[in-house]
Amino acid sequence: MGSNPSPTLLLLLLSLLLSAAAGDDQAVMDAFAGAVTPAPTGWSSGTNFCHWLGVKCDTNNRVSSISLPSKSLSGKLPPDLNSLSQLTTLSLQNNRLSGALPSFSNLSLLQSIYLDSNNFTSVPPGAFSGLTSLQTLSLSDNLDLAPWPFPSELKDSSSIVQIYASNANIFGSIPDIFGNFPGLTTLRLSYNNLTGSLPASFNGSGIQNLWLNNQKSGLTGPIDVLSGMAQVTQVWLQTNKFTGAIPDLSACTLLSELQLRDNQLTGIVPPSVISLPSLKNVTLQNNKLQGPLPKFPDSVQVSLGTTNSFCKNTSGDCDPQVATLLEVAGALGYPMKLAEAWTGNNACNQWTFVTCDSGGKVITVNFAKQGFSGTISPAFANLTSLKELYLNDNNLTGVIPESLTTLPQLKKIDVSNNDLSGKLPVFRSSVSLITAGNKNIGKEVPASGGAPGSGSNSPSGSSGGSKGSSVSPGTVAGLVIAVLVFVVVVLYVSYKCYMKRRLRKFGKVENPESGSEIMKTNVIGDLNGYAGVPSELQSQSSSDPNEFPVLEGGNVAISIQVLRQVTNNFSEENILGRGGFGVVYKGELHDGTKIAVKRMEGGAMGTKGMNEFQAEIAVLTKVRHRHLVALLGFCVNGNERLLVYEYMPQGHLGQHLFDWQEHGYPPLTWKQRVTIALDVARGVEYLHSLAQTSFIHRDLKPSNILLSDDKRAKVADFGLVKNAPDGKYSVETRLAGTFGYLAPEYAVTGRVTTKIDVYAFGVILMELITGRKALDETMPDERSHLVTWFRRILINKDNLRKSIDPVLDPNDETYESICRVAELAGHCTAREPHQRPDMGHAVNVLGPLVEQWKPSCHEDEDTYGIDLHMSLPQALQRWQANEGTSTMISDLSFSRTQASIPAKPSGFADSFDSMDCR
Ligand SMILES: *[C@@H]1O[C@H](CO)[C@@H](O)[C@H](O)[C@H]1NC(C)=O
Ligand SMILES: *[C@@H]1O[C@H](CO)[C@@H](O)[C@H](O)[C@H]1NC(C)=O
Ligand SMILES: *[C@@H]1O[C@H](CO)[C@@H](O)[C@H](O)[C@H]1NC(C)=O
Ligand SMILES: *[C@@H]1O[C@H](CO)[C@@H](O)[C@H](O)[C@H]1NC(C)=O
Ligand SMILES: *[C@@H]1O[C@H](CO)[C@@H](O)[C@H](O)[C@H]1NC(C)=O
Ligand SMILES: *[C@@H]1O[C@H](CO)[C@@H](O)[C@H](O)[C@H]1NC(C)=O
Ligand SMILES: *[C@@H]1O[C@H](CO)[C@@H](O)[C@H](O)[C@H]1NC(C)=O
Repeated sequence: MGSNPSPTLLLLLLSLLLSAAAGDDQAVMDAFAGAVTPAPTGWSSGTNFCHWLGVKCDTNNRVSSISLPSKSLSGKLPPDLNSLSQLTTLSLQNNRLSGALPSFSNLSLLQSIYLDSNNFTSVPPGAFSGLTSLQTLSLSDNLDLAPWPFPSELKDSSSIVQIYASNANIFGSIPDIFGNFPGLTTLRLSYNNLTGSLPASFNGSGIQNLWLNNQKSGLTGPIDVLSGMAQVTQVWLQTNKFTGAIPDLSACTLLSELQLRDNQLTGIVPPSVISLPSLKNVTLQNNKLQGPLPKFPDSVQVSLGTTNSFCKNTSGDCDPQVATLLEVAGALGYPMKLAEAWTGNNACNQWTFVTCDSGGKVITVNFAKQGFSGTISPAFANLTSLKELYLNDNNLTGVIPESLTTLPQLKKIDVSNNDLSGKLPVFRSSVSLITAGNKNIGKEVPASGGAPGSGSNSPSGSSGGSKGSSVSPGTVAGLVIAVLVFVVVVLYVSYKCYMKRRLRKFGKVENPESGSEIMKTNVIGDLNGYAGVPSELQSQSSSDPNEFPVLEGGNVAISIQVLRQVTNNFSEENILGRGGFGVVYKGELHDGTKIAVKRMEGGAMGTKGMNEFQAEIAVLTKVRHRHLVALLGFCVNGNERLLVYEYMPQGHLGQHLFDWQEHGYPPLTWKQRVTIALDVARGVEYLHSLAQTSFIHRDLKPSNILLSDDKRAKVADFGLVKNAPDGKYSVETRLAGTFGYLAPEYAVTGRVTTKIDVYAFGVILMELITGRKALDETMPDERSHLVTWFRRILINKDNLRKSIDPVLDPNDETYESICRVAELAGHCTAREPHQRPDMGHAVNVLGPLVEQWKPSCHEDEDTYGIDLHMSLPQALQRWQANEGTSTMISDLSFSRTQASIPAKPSGFADSFDSMDCR
């Protein structure tokens, strides 16, 4: 025999092995038969499983395929299923199988796993390892699965073609393993809880069908990788949190469906996307896309929505200044902040970070301390009136573009505290350039880690160790010294100028009560670094006294010092909320009066002329109504503006309606809800009544409805409407955040009337009834848009009861009341504006419903001597005329006894006198 086994022995061993394995199949199949009910035809243990329904065996009587789809099977699969080592196909989809999924590891012949539409409860770790022949994995619609990560062990399955795992409770990131799948065509992972960004290995993959839509928390990061997915036909990325711009998709010539809606995409829609040859269907709504409205060919079904930030409602180029600023934003990767703040086609219309002169030319761009990364766009050079450019304290890289030296009006450019490099362009001597805090400025930093080519033998060479620098240490030191000297000289000169101006300025202040002094003392810079050095930005404005008209006797200007003091220097603990346009702080005056201070970011209203701003403040501070949050005063501090409002102790309606548990509030009763609705209707009706249509609410939604301790509502954040060229009033509207509340006609015509508010009010009524948000991304598509869904329910009233907020649990009488409000909500959200009632009608409908519970004394609405038939300019004139004689505010406040109408806190006047006359 020797050391080699004989052929006979080998054969014997082999047959023993085979029979043992076959025996294993019997055991597993018996266990299988015993575990599922109802037992499929012929499945009884002990009989030859190769004859069982849906089972196929190979020539060795080993199970090769089990196929029992849609057999209403329940029960659990045997955990040792993977001892069926010859299995190639397992099709058990659309049953009611539950329990843990068996492990399939090491089933090296398994090609197809269909387990979708079942009730499995968990997936064991490593369940899909070693599946070297796998082509199809289908696990979609297993909603009972405990959260599990995407099976990264699939990287072994280099033959995989299709992965379906939508609605399967997968959480965590998508692993970067797609380079292993040259044949993958279908990846469907919709409706899971995937987070993180798209994996880089999507680049170059052959995926055709990419469904990653509707993740619970949302996928994040850019979608740039799509540009390298040349095979894609369907891209469904909607309802996530993707950011950044839509990439160039010119390589994706087969792409027919591009669903990008409901993300946070910014930037200009690239021409390569608009002209995609196979495109049939594209949705872009509910992003913050910018630039020209994209004009797709007629053959494409397009949905753009109303909440993007396109410069116009019609296609065509943007205003040149707008186009330039968009290019500037592009170099910064189109940050969300800019996409939200820069809407419309006029860069001088309240664009944050931008200041204009009276001729509508941008004179200042202030990006200081915004956390921006990216580069400085050479396009700044197109802003030919630019005087000041603040880019300091960001994370900017690259060079200072040479083109900036051509700006004829430039006085100051501050790029301090970034990561800029390269040679400094030579500016005119009158330009103040601040570059401190850029460790590589003046150095050539190669794009990638190229080694310095020379000078390796210099004795001090190694200690220099400047990686990638082609400039010798001596040159660098020289440059640094030169820059330092330059900076010192600039500082000295500006300090001199500053002292001069300061003396001049203070000399002008005669009447400390005039209010002008407040604004001027604030000019002492504290914004742009370099303590003690004035900001040109701030001092420039005050050099022309006409630019800061004084509110004579208006007494609504409040100093920044007072606001600092009462908000504990804008401390974190005092933050009441954050909006798109700034942070709201709580403050307490020394007499105990509480206030809310809205600090608009970096001059959120920046470009609005002071005259206009103050005129608006002058009017708004006089609009007092029991159901409107009162504006008590304002403060201008350099580029920054602060608005002071009455404080509302119970937060906003959204917190009580949607997040009450989280905030520890009791749920609102129906009675409270109707009362709130009536309060809101009355507040908005009053706004509409003022000078006809000159007031319209800008942004009517639950977070702008504030509550008092007794759950009465006041409407916040309304604005003044400007006189449009056609003599009609239009609203200065900022539509950020109004998802779901915006009437359809806005999309078509951009027209804003009081009926826009009526529509939004109708949506709020629906929210009060259902307890659901206007836009609820956690709901399936057909239910996510409240108005659409609710209006469908209204067609068949039988469904209404099911749609009511479960915490309400109405009795018959309450249900009756809910039906009335539901009907009103339906009318308010009519598609055609003229079919919607006015707010007065809403008041009439809601009034009796409230009084059913609580007979209330007749509230005569407070018009405060504002003649409803006066035009807005007339009213303004009259108010201004009255300013000197009887200050209307005190008349109004003190003639009222109702505590719910706030008087201007007396604390202001005192603080103002004592604090600011220095
Ligand atoms: C799968 O195979 C590998 C190597 O062949 C082995 O180490 C591992 O234990 C096997 N796993 C199972 C669950 O059988
Ligand atoms: C099984 O899942 C289906 C669909 O996911 C679901 O409708 C059904 O209620 C579940 N059955 C059980 C018993 O959990
Ligand atoms: C989604 O997953 C994250 C963790 O990745 C978790 O914090 C969050 O609660 C999950 N959300 C839901 C709705 O399951
Ligand atoms: C995709 O891969 C190509 C080739 O490797 C590369 O040039 C390109 O930059 C990559 N695209 C992205 C978005 O990563
Ligand atoms: C476009 O996509 C939407 C949403 O997936 C779908 O409802 C619609 O039918 C599609 N239209 C076309 C022309 O494919
Ligand atoms: C900036 O000016 C240059 C030269 O006049 C012009 O070619 C370019 O289109 C302008 N860019 C923008 C964004 O207006
Ligand atoms: C710059 O980026 C780094 C990390 O990328 C970050 O930690 C830092 O806060 C950023 N600095 C500024 C000023 O935004």
